[in-house]
Amino acid sequence: MGAPLTQSPHIFVIERDFEWGQDQAAIVGLVSRYFSDYNGNGFYPHPQEEVLQRELLALPALQHLRRHLRHADARGLAITNLGLAGQPEAERNAVLYAIALSLGFPTSTDQRTQRVAWDIRARPGSATENRFVTFSERVGNADMHTDSSFYPMPEEQFLLYVVNAARCGGGESLLIDVDDIHAELQRTEAGRATFALLSEANVPFRVPSVYAANEEQVEIELAPVFERLADTLAMRWRHDSILKGLAARPALDTPPLRAALALLNEVIEQHAPRFCQHLPDDTLLWADNRRTLHGRATYTDPARHLIRIRIADTPNAERIGPSGVAMD
Ligand SMILES: [Fe+2]
Repeated sequence: MGAPLTQSPHIFVIERDFEWGQDQAAIVGLVSRYFSDYNGNGFYPHPQEEVLQRELLALPALQHLRRHLRHADARGLAITNLGLAGQPEAERNAVLYAIALSLGFPTSTDQRTQRVAWDIRARPGSATENRFVTFSERVGNADMHTDSSFYPMPEEQFLLYVVNAARCGGGESLLIDVDDIHAELQRTEAGRATFALLSEANVPFRVPSVYAANEEQVEIELAPVFERLADTLAMRWRHDSILKGLAARPALDTPPLRAALALLNEVIEQHAPRFCQHLPDDTLLWADNRRTLHGRATYTDPARHLIRIRIADTPNAERIGPSGVAMD
C-alpha cells in the first residue's frame, strides 16, 4: 500500500491502494445468503462462520486487506479512504463484517443482542447517569485500555471504522505499544517491582453494566495485567474496571497492589510514547488488542460515530465466556 506515516515502529497509517471492483457487491451477495436477518445491521457470530470465511477469502479485495492487516510487524494499521463512505448502513456493515471475518472470527459485544458491529457514539443523557457507563457510550476521552479486559478470553484484534469523525478538533485515536510500557517500567526500581507484581497477582476486573448479562449483578474476572504470549508481552488493562473490581472484592485491595496500579496508570497515561492521530471519515483502524492499548483524546461533538468489531483468532464455537457462542 502507499507510503506509511509512522509514529511508532509498529503502527502505521496508509491510504487504500486497491480497487474494490465488483467485490463489495459480491460480499453483500454472499453475506445475504448466510444471514436472512442482519440483526439490526449488527450481525452476530454466524454458526457457519468458517465456511463463510473461506468463501469470502476467494475475493481479491479481502485477500489484499488480510495480507496487509495481518502483516507480522504491524500492531496497529489505519487505512484511509477505505471506500465505504456514503454506502447504506446495511451494505456498509456487511462489508465491515466480511473484512472482520476475513481476519478471524468476529465476536458479539453484547450478550443480550449478540451484535458484533457496535456503534461508538454518545448515548443521549449518558453524562448524567449513575450506572457504570462504558467509554463507547459517551463523549469525552477514553483512558488507555485493552478491550474485553474483563472477559476470560480477550479478543486478539479489533477494527474501528470512522463513519463521522469529530468535527470539534478532538477525538484523536491513541495507541500505545505494550513494549513501550514495559521499557518505561524497566527504567526505575519501583517500575520493575510494579511489572513483577502485576505479572503475578490476579487483579479483579469488573464488567461494565452495558456488557453484563444483568444490570444489577456484579460480574468480576480475575486475571494478571501482564502476560507472556509466545515470545511477546501482552496486557489486559482497564483502570476504571479494576478500581470497581477492588471495591467489589476488598480482600484483594492491598497497599502494594494499589501502589503498583497507580504507578502503571501514570506511566500509561503520562509517560509512554503514543500514536496520536485524528482519523478522517472512511478510515479503517485495525489493532492488536493484546499488544497495544488504545484510547481517544477528548471530544465534544455528539455526531462523532465509529463502528467497532472485535475479532478472535479462534472460532466462536471454541471460545469460552460471554463474548463467544458458548455462553456462561
Ligand atoms: Fe476500547
